[in-house]
Amino acid sequence: MLIIDGKKVSLDLKNEMKASVEHYKNLTGKVPALTIIIVGQDPASQVYVRNKAKTCKEIGMISTVIAMPAETTQKQLLDTIEDLNNDPAVHGILVQEPLPEHIDGFTVTLSIDPSKDVDGFHPQNLGCLVMGHLDKCFISCTPYGILELLTRCSIETKGKHCVVLGRSDIVGKPMANLMLQKLDAANCTVTICHSATPDISFYTKQADILIAAIGQAGYITADMVKPGVVVFDVGNNRIEDPAAKSGFRVVGDVDYENVSAVASAMTPVPGGVGPMTIAMLMKNTLLSFQRINGLLQPRSVK
Ligand code: GUN
Repeated sequence: MLIIDGKKVSLDLKNEMKASVEHYKNLTGKVPALTIIIVGQDPASQVYVRNKAKTCKEIGMISTVIAMPAETTQKQLLDTIEDLNNDPAVHGILVQEPLPEHIDGFTVTLSIDPSKDVDGFHPQNLGCLVMGHLDKCFISCTPYGILELLTRCSIETKGKHCVVLGRSDIVGKPMANLMLQKLDAANCTVTICHSATPDISFYTKQADILIAAIGQAGYITADMVKPGVVVFDVGNNRIEDPAAKSGFRVVGDVDYENVSAVASAMTPVPGGVGPMTIAMLMKNTLLSFQRINGLLQPRSVK
């Protein structure tokens, strides 16, 4: 069984991007810049934001974190985003989710200039993805990371049955639509399963490529998959583990030990899809910088 090593691939990608950033710096005197807004004190979000900012720095990009208090009004947040939309030195804007309850997440998503929406959450970006105009959009980072892993691991996808578990706007919907596209790393027949799907294993057993993004630890068991399946585990679930220093460990949506005995290739958790998500955020920020500065070769995604 091939362990799809997202950590290694993300390191390769980051090294490639570091060289590109250096090249563009010499060429134009400019570097890509990502601004991250975090509202409130959610500890998990703070960790994610720190990691994103750190990764930017590692590859030579500018990262700015705007930390706003939990009481920030929606208007204050929208005004901050408007300033960033109008700032030519900012190439990427990311508002970390979840937001406090008094702020409407969709209104915030709509307020970000689609040409700086490196999360790929804006309906203009998701719409362009659905219609196959990948050269005109940002692809949401987790699906984009899985597409990159399929490409770099030379996994056969054309005509295969891809089953996506989960219908979120961030992962399930863009993922399924991406796998449907006439791309070298996609071109699949696609099924989406969700919480109202009866007998999910009826579908998962038919999957040549299975993408699990449902947020339930160990949900996919060996009896639910076909021998030879290629599995991408998007799950990032904390479970109690008294033996661990932190008191918990992170596991995926797939029972790794048993499913890996049946699968032909599979991402581990941690070290699979997770590190790719951050790498693709960097890739989108670099892409935004290239577009804004007219540095792009025609067609960036095949
Ligand atoms: N919260 C958890 N994942 C993400 C992400 O990919 N982007 C944003 N903006 N918030 C998140």
